[in-house]
This record gives sequence, C-alpha cells and structure tokens, in this order.
Amino acid sequence: MQPKPSSAMRFLTISTVLIAWTSMVTVESGFTTVIHGDLELDVSDEQLPFDDAFFACYRNNKTLLSVDSEGKDRILVDLFINGGSNVTLPGTQSWIAARESREGVWVNVVAGSLQPLYYTRWFIDQPDDTENLSCAFQHTLFDLNWRDGNCSAPFYFICESTIAK
Ligand SMILES: *[C@@H]1O[C@H](CO)[C@@H](O)[C@H](O)[C@H]1NC(C)=O
Ligand SMILES: *[C@@H]1O[C@H](CO)[C@@H](O)[C@H](O)[C@H]1NC(C)=O
Ligand SMILES: *[C@@H]1O[C@H](CO)[C@@H](O)[C@H](O)[C@H]1NC(C)=O
Ligand SMILES: *[C@@H]1O[C@H](CO)[C@@H](O)[C@H](O)[C@H]1NC(C)=O
Repeated sequence: MQPKPSSAMRFLTISTVLIAWTSMVTVESGFTTVIHGDLELDVSDEQLPFDDAFFACYRNNKTLLSVDSEGKDRILVDLFINGGSNVTLPGTQSWIAARESREGVWVNVVAGSLQPLYYTRWFIDQPDDTENLSCAFQHTLFDLNWRDGNCSAPFYFICESTIAK
C-alpha cells in the first residue's frame, strides 16, 4: 500500500504539472502569451475601456477572458498569482468578460451573446452596485478577486483562445 500523499506533496505534484504545461512566448506586439494546456492567454500591455478591450480580442479571433468556472479561476491564480507562469499581470485591474446587462444584473459577455453568470468571485462587498460601475475586473493585487469598475475607464485585459490540436 502506498502511503496517502500529504497535502504538501500533492501541492508540489500539482505545481510541477502546472509548470510543465506552461510555456511563455511573445506572439504579437502588445501582448504577452501564456499557454496552459490548450488554453492560450494573451495579456495586453495596454489599457483600454471595456468595449475596446472586448473588440481588441475579437479582432484577433479571441475573446475577452471569461472566468466562468472555479477550475479556470484556480488556473489563473496559479499562473498569475502563485508564480506558475513568469508573467506578472500589469497594473492593478484587468477586465473580465462580465458586465451588467441592466442595473444589478450581471452577465457573461461572449461574442454575440450574453450568458448567465453562474460562477463569480466578487471581493467582499462587491459589486457595490453603484451606478456607472457596470463592468467587472479582477484585482491583480488581491488574489484576482472581482470588483465592479467604470466601463469607460482604461484597464488592462487578457484575451483567451483555445489552441487547436
Ligand atoms: C480570424 O479568422 C478568420 C476566419 O477564420 C480569418 O479570415 C482571419 O484571418 C482571422 N484573423 C486573425 C487576426 O487571425
Ligand atoms: C521562468 O523563468 C525561468 C528563468 O528564466 C525559466 O527557467 C523557466 O523555464 C520559466 N518558466 C516558465 C513557466 O516560463
Ligand atoms: C451615471 O451616468 C449618468 C449618465 O451619464 C449620469 O446622469 C449619472 O449622474 C451617473 N451616476 C453616477 C452615480 O455617477
Ligand atoms: C469613467 O471613466 C471615464 C474615463 O476615464 C471618466 O471620464 C468618467 O468620469 C468616469 N465615470 C465615473 C462615474 O467615474
């Protein structure tokens, strides 16, 4: 019988797998690319209002990062907060593809459609639901927790795509 791995050992194993899967390349000017499995994440080095960020991704056949599951959220935290990639997210705010469709109703913005926001990780007391703070961003200094932000303000962003096999 093998002994049950300690949680520290499991953590090490998971980290090793994560690092083995991750490689960093710079593809195009304006973005730093992190690859994890078949997930490609392009980290912008410019700040844009929400809609412009959305279309900057769309123009490149990618989508603005959707944090739509706990598993994906964990991958992002491992890559960008726990050092799984060598990439530090710039600035303090990074848009994700979630916004209000009307006051108080948050949706996932996918190309061409709005989908319910099933998974969320709002920072404590967020969204604070003030008027005109209708787009969600990850706070890059606070474990990628979410806050509501001013859609017209320029923030950093990440585009995502799936690498074809
Ligand atoms: C996006 O996809 C379309 C259709 O597949 C293709 O024609 C176009 O060149 C692609 N654009 C970029 C920036 O990759
Ligand atoms: C991070 O940087 C170190 C030192 O340059 C390099 O050895 C390592 O492969 C890099 N890791 C990733 C995931 O890019
Ligand atoms: C929100 O925007 C509207 C229209 O621009 C403006 O009339 C209103 O005062 C703003 N509300 C706040 C809380 O800034
Ligand atoms: C939102 O950001 C824009 C652009 O920076 C600014 O002009 C506007 O006053 C901001 N609105 C609020 C309600 O903070």
